[in-house]
Amino acid sequence: MEVPLIDLVRQYRTLQGEIDEAIRRVVESGRFIGGPEVEALEEEVARYVGVRYAIGVASGTDALWLSLMALGVGPEDEVITTPFTFAATAEAIALLGARPVFVDVDPQTYCIDPGRIEEAITPRTKAIVPVHLFGQPVDWEPIEEIAKRYGLFMIEDGAQAIGAEYRGRKACSLGHVGCLSFFPTKNLGAYGDGGMVTTDDPEMADRIKVLRVHGAGEKYAHKVLGTNSRLDAIQAAVLRAKLPHTDRWNARRREIAALYDELLREVDWVVTPYVRPGCLHVYHQYSVRVPDRDRVRERLAEVGVATAVHYPIPLHLQGAFRYLGYKEGNFPVAEKVSREVLSLPIFPELTDEEVRYVAKRLMEASGV
Ligand SMILES: Cc1ncc(COP(=O)(O)O)c(C=O)c1O
Repeated sequence: MEVPLIDLVRQYRTLQGEIDEAIRRVVESGRFIGGPEVEALEEEVARYVGVRYAIGVASGTDALWLSLMALGVGPEDEVITTPFTFAATAEAIALLGARPVFVDVDPQTYCIDPGRIEEAITPRTKAIVPVHLFGQPVDWEPIEEIAKRYGLFMIEDGAQAIGAEYRGRKACSLGHVGCLSFFPTKNLGAYGDGGMVTTDDPEMADRIKVLRVHGAGEKYAHKVLGTNSRLDAIQAAVLRAKLPHTDRWNARRREIAALYDELLREVDWVVTPYVRPGCLHVYHQYSVRVPDRDRVRERLAEVGVATAVHYPIPLHLQGAFRYLGYKEGNFPVAEKVSREVLSLPIFPELTDEEVRYVAKRLMEASGV
């Protein structure tokens, strides 16, 4: 049996009529950038997340970058984040000339460890960017308490976490600003790049709307420096067709995760994902930890099981961030997790039979 890590065509087949119709509607409207599809999606996502404003942008990376820009983050500032995330999180900070300050992760959730944040705060710290990693919300309240005490902005990197909840509150409704990615493989994925900024703050919403069109409040009146970061109408229409299915898809991901948990429960060398009490996980990834990870991965590939490693090199050891001066050993938890972590296939259309096959093959792939 061949089990892919993700299969977007299977999902398309289940919604083919609605998606084809959505794309046709845009092509026949002749409006490809912004316009009614984007505005409708913005309203629908704002309602779904539970915020007043959602502003479509070109990608999750831009959602982060523009949010930080709108908050005035610049070369004098430090922004606290996790070293165990996709590069975009820290890149958005660094591209504004600010300094990403990494804080090690929690050994159970692999999200930023709230207990270590305070020691990283300096007079230059302006914001914290926690990442809801793999679809599980970070332990929000202790971080929020610190941010309030020190007067810091909170920007959620919710790229992997649409629909996730922390104590009944949706990811991307918790901070000053939330950032979503609609990269095709995300839990709500477009057919190209896309992203969104969510906020309750009307001034923040206005600033993002200006920044995404070259800093122009009115056409050709450029108040500030901005960029081209628009969500296109075809992506918005595809996302509108998919959004109503997101909760059902996330529920199916949880079902798959529960089946993996059950099948792997007795396997003492496999560490399955930990879910914090009070968190609704949406399993963008189902990532286990195993010894001799690369061997296990190779053995799984030999029997047709595709896997991935999120992420093999923590950001403080990446070439792009070498200039920050971190060394191996600075963030031991992130370093250990990045050596052991292995993402198994998970997507809503994966069958129970496939899940059983993956679990069985994983049990046979032990290098220990
Ligand atoms: C945690 C995280 N942050 C940011 C991004 C960037 O999103 P995008 O690829 O839409 O730019 C991604 C996904 O790619 C991500 O997983």
